[in-house]
Formats: sequence, C-alpha cells, structure tokens
Amino acid sequence: MIPLIDLKRQTRQLEGEIQRAIAEILADCHFVKGTSIEKFEEAFARYCEVAYASAVSSGTAALQLALLAAGVGEGDEVVTSPYTFIATAEAITCVGAKPVFVDILPGPFTLDPEKIEEVITERTKAVIPVDLYGQSADLEAIEQIAQVHHLTIIEDACQATGAEYKGRRLGSVSHLTCFSFYPSKNLGALGDAGAVVTKDLKAVEQIRIRRDHGQTGPYIHETEGLNARMDSIQAAVLLVKLQYVDGWNATRRKHARQYDELLRDIEPVTTPPIMEYANSVYALYTIRAQDRDRLQVYLRQRGIGTGVYYPIPLHLQPAYQYLGYKEYDFPVTETAARETLSLPMYPELSEDEITCVAEGIRDFYQGKE
Ligand SMILES: Cc1ncc(COP(=O)(O)O)c(C=O)c1O
Repeated sequence: MIPLIDLKRQTRQLEGEIQRAIAEILADCHFVKGTSIEKFEEAFARYCEVAYASAVSSGTAALQLALLAAGVGEGDEVVTSPYTFIATAEAITCVGAKPVFVDILPGPFTLDPEKIEEVITERTKAVIPVDLYGQSADLEAIEQIAQVHHLTIIEDACQATGAEYKGRRLGSVSHLTCFSFYPSKNLGALGDAGAVVTKDLKAVEQIRIRRDHGQTGPYIHETEGLNARMDSIQAAVLLVKLQYVDGWNATRRKHARQYDELLRDIEPVTTPPIMEYANSVYALYTIRAQDRDRLQVYLRQRGIGTGVYYPIPLHLQPAYQYLGYKEYDFPVTETAARETLSLPMYPELSEDEITCVAEGIRDFYQGKE
C-alpha cells in the first residue's frame, strides 16, 4: 500500500520530541493562551521573514480574521479563484462579502492576473490569490492591479508553508498571508491550527483581539470577535515541527524531480509545471492525466492512493448556486477539475515507492491488467 498521505511515518519519527512538548503543557495546564503561543508566533514570523504572526485556530479562521482586519464586510466583493478548497470562499461570505471568481492559469493552477480587472467594481475591496499545491500565484502581477484599484491582497498560502516567490518567503510578500497547519499540510499540527502573518502592526493587533472574542482586557470587548485562538498544545507541537519543515520541503522537491523524470515520456500525462518566479513546496504533486478517473481506479486496485483536488470547482458547487455562475464560465478551471490527479507526496516516501507509482501509471496507459 502506498497511501496518498501518511501521517504515521512522520509522527512516529518525532514521537519523543512531540510527547516532551505536550508534557510541558500538561505540567503548566495553560491550555489556552499559554506561553507556547507567543513563542510560536515569534518563530513563525521569523521563518516567514516578516514582522508579525498571529496564531489562530485554523486556516479558515486565518482567512476570516485577515478579511476582518482588512475592513472587508457587508456588501463588499472579494476576487478569488474558483479552483480552491471551499474555505477560501467561505471566509469571504462569513464576513458578509461576496466571492467573485476569476479563472486560473493552465500551468500553475493559480489566479490569472490578466482576468482580474474585468471583474473589479466599486465594491471590490480585496483579492485572495491562492498558492495552490504549494506554488505561489504570480504575486507581483496581482499586486500591480491591486495598487491601481486600491485593493488589499490577502494571500491564501494554506498549501504553501515555506514556498517562495522570486526568492522571497511567502508571508513576506503580500499585505496579509494566511497559513493552515491542518495535519496533512507541509507543517501540520495534531489537529486544526493556522496563522496570519503581516508586517502591519495594526492588522496583527486587530487579529489578536478578534480571535479572542474582541477582548482588549479581561471581559472588555472592544468589538465582537470569534473564538479562533490556537491551542497551546498545537503551538508547542508546531514549534517542534517548524525546525524540520525546510528539510521536509527539500525532500518533497527531490521527490517531485524523481516523479518528473519518471513520468516525462508518458504522453497522456502532464507533470506539474513550475513557474520561473516560484519555488514550490509540493504540498501536493498534481499531474494532468487523460482518462483521469479510470487511472485513479486502476492505481487504487494496485494499492496506490491518489486524490482529486478539486473535482467540482467552487462556481459549480451547490452552495454557490445563488451567485449565478454556470458551466463553461471558467473553462481553464473546469478542464483542471476533470484532469488533475494528485499522487502520493510526503517527505517520508521512498524512492522505490515513487518508482512503483510511476510504473503503475505507465502500465495503465500501456493497457496492462
Ligand atoms: C487553499 C486552502 N485554503 C484554506 C484552507 C483551510 O484551512 P483549514 O483546514 O486549516 O481551515 C485549506 C485547507 O485545506 C486550503 O487548502
């Protein structure tokens, strides 16, 4: 069996260190707002090469709090990609704004900067580029448009901890950058967790107040907020894992090169192109494959797990019918949703396992039973 994601391998490797980190929290019993939170915030901000980080309860909460800090609310519009996890759009509607979708680039599966201006209205307040599969969107191109129209960029880097844009760490490029530490991410907690990073002190203060019910002091509520704090245990575990994330990302890149090499001459397969401005961390290794669904079944029968991220683009989801989009509105996205297949990808994967996955794909297209 080669699963798509295997959390057991990494967790076993770090079991001793993780248990010691948890034991410290058990000893002081500050399960919420413990000292590990501030320590993690400092370490993660340093990691992202940016001034401030705010530790929150999930990537979804990070996006929601970033939107609130940017002053996005009722009646506003936020431009984003329809080819992402629903959390990106959910965060927009949660603050009372409306998601406005724009098609993606066929190579990197990220927001097409050239299509953004077409949908900007006087209600547009922000753009959320999504760094899909671990590769950054074209942030400078998007920034140029944002500056002309006075829009805030809130980057959804939930799949891209440690990735770079033109040699700059994600987190140090956009005004507000949101991360997810969902267990299967490149930097994963033992449950839900996330962060917003920024160089804007006012924004981070807003986020810290709003993640804690709008409290500025004990039971003094400047505003209403959320219960969106990161747990102390998650911060302690993330502090342990943060030391390893660059090494893990380097290994993911090595695995990606092996896949690229092995799959290169299989004509019905397109390996993931990496743009010249990006240094991907391969949260997922995602190919385009002809006859994708049958290939997925074939690999499953061989004990190889794969995933489809995402089979239904957001503009065609039942939840967003009310937005009035229809089929063919975003052809690049819709083709991607039919063709993409994510292969097993995690640092602990062995070279033999990657070879075995590639052989499975080759055998499928050669018609082998
Ligand atoms: C692109 C993207 N945005 C947002 C999220 C939400 O993160 P979380 O699951 O931590 O709330 C995810 C998580 O899968 C994601 O992949």
